[in-house]
Amino acid sequence: MSYTVPHGMRSAKITPRVHMMNTGNTRQTMKFFVDTADVDEIRDLAATGMVDGVTTNPSLVAKSGRDFIDVLKEICDIVPGPVSAEVTATDHENMLAEGRKLAEVAPNVTIKVPLTWDGLKTCRVLTSAGTQVNVTLCFSANQALLAAKAGATFVSPFVGRLDDLGLEGMELISEIRTIYDNYAALDTQILVASIRSTNHLKQAALIGADVSTIPPAVLRKLAHHTLTDQGLAAFLADWQKSGQAIL
Ligand code: E4P
Repeated sequence: MSYTVPHGMRSAKITPRVHMMNTGNTRQTMKFFVDTADVDEIRDLAATGMVDGVTTNPSLVAKSGRDFIDVLKEICDIVPGPVSAEVTATDHENMLAEGRKLAEVAPNVTIKVPLTWDGLKTCRVLTSAGTQVNVTLCFSANQALLAAKAGATFVSPFVGRLDDLGLEGMELISEIRTIYDNYAALDTQILVASIRSTNHLKQAALIGADVSTIPPAVLRKLAHHTLTDQGLAAFLADWQKSGQAIL
């Protein structure tokens, strides 16, 4: 069974997860992470009760204009779930040193490393010591297989950046889902990153991704529907005409 999902001029065959009982799948829900280092946005969105974690990257921290460690501490105080903080060293030894320093900031810090051989080595050492690791900048199914074999807690495939190249980012999510479900020992969570639209989120849920990290503007759009607005306006107009009040 497959769906044809329109995406601009392209379309992709997305196979939904329809046999959950037969695959040993233990996912209870899709987790929502918010993809920003803007503390005010995080505080505001966390109040909806929908934010299970946060992802940051060096570009988002730079955009905040604030000190990385200060921002990280504040975010970890607001959101008790995993908060990804990315190393900026590119060699194993310094990635490890940076990762260990960032992990000391709060117990819910997840260390983000790039999908390079040094990053994978660092991932193995950190996860063996009990630190959660998010392997980021994943653009192929083979890279995702390596991340899982390195013991990653999360792998971050970037769907929007693949779409930007005229490729189909969601196909990568589908491939990774299949590969991880083929092997019982691969328990890395698929964290869909570089989400640009509400449609990306829907497709990620149809495929059965574990986590989506969502830009604040996209997260806010999820509850919006013009028929909801119109329907509510009509109900309220009729209610007013009735002259009644509940309280
Ligand atoms: C994820 O962890 C990344 O920070 C993010 O999703 C990248 O998104 P972009 O491709 O829109 O920059």
